[in-house]
Amino acid sequence: TPRVFSGIQPSGNLTLGNYLGALKRFVEMQESDIETLYCVVDMHAITVWQDPADLRHNTREVTAAYIACGLDPAKSILFNQSQVPAHAQLAWIFNCTARIGWMNRMTQFKDKAGKNAEKSSLGLLAYPALMAADILIYQATHVPVGEDQKQHLELARDIAAKFNHDFDTDFFPSPDPLIDGEATRVMSLRDGTKKMSKSDPSDQSRITLRDDADTIAKKIRKAKTDPEPLPETLKELEGRPEARNLVNIYAALSGRTAESVIAEFSGQQFGQFKPALAELAVDHLAPITQEMNRLMADPAEIDRVLGNGADRAAAIAEPILDKTYDIVGMVRSR
Ligand code: TYM
Repeated sequence: TPRVFSGIQPSGNLTLGNYLGALKRFVEMQESDIETLYCVVDMHAITVWQDPADLRHNTREVTAAYIACGLDPAKSILFNQSQVPAHAQLAWIFNCTARIGWMNRMTQFKDKAGKNAEKSSLGLLAYPALMAADILIYQATHVPVGEDQKQHLELARDIAAKFNHDFDTDFFPSPDPLIDGEATRVMSLRDGTKKMSKSDPSDQSRITLRDDADTIAKKIRKAKTDPEPLPETLKELEGRPEARNLVNIYAALSGRTAESVIAEFSGQQFGQFKPALAELAVDHLAPITQEMNRLMADPAEIDRVLGNGADRAAAIAEPILDKTYDIVGMVRSR
């Protein structure tokens, strides 16, 4: 049976990239009949230092973002990772399945560890094994993510395959990444060749779910572009990454294809396109931010949602963990 799982780290301020590449699509998937589980992956966040008060705040804020974007905790299972210990338990087994060499090849590890990999946490290196466990502890089959998570998903498939091979079983399904839509890789507003990210030092490079309407509009007005008008076809946007990015953002926000957006604005200057984009972004994001702020005023209610989601998630995960231990040969006598 198909089952959807995905996660978001509570490691700071959510960006338009998180929204278009993940949150918006999660909500769309909830409308299908397929069971959906969405996680706030607090255990992933601590692979780099998190101030405890910030972690607590950000965990609740990501939860509020999920709900504000339209996720219904009655339809989807919404929870934080650390409240379902089976993630960590399966991750240990996968630490023993995965090879160090596989981890060393992960581009995200290389980026995050930087020059001094020896000084990064062991958890940062092992991160993809925990991510594989997040998915496979539910035997999830479909994983909506942005483009940047593709390599981690391939590793999760490798782990499932090696586990199945080592123990001569077909217990774990091979999870399919779902990377589609017009905004699988939202780029920085300052540099169209760099991913929009929470960690970019420039606040002007990203739109966040904490920005108010004026800030959103200003950031779009100031976004880097080129002096050419918008062409007639997408092909002609090749070599103009900033222009392409803004067209993609417009398309994803409006639920249209990039082709239809370019056809509508063809011949116009960015002086005309940017205000249209700013208006669209504000119309779309301001109500979400407002709803997040409203939800954040009642942290006890957010915690209740997370606890309830964790109970439901654990009910699926525990039998799968038991079966895994059994396959591995762990004695279970109580
Ligand atoms: P994280 O927290 O970095 O990002 C959450 C989701 O947002 C997507 N995303 C983007 N999409 C388009 N353009 C961007 N600029 C952009 N930036 C971020 C990410 O691709 C992701 O889908 N390792 C994951 C969290 C995770 C997970 C999992 C995901 C942990 N366990 C199991 C799926 C399944 C991460 O760090 O995402």
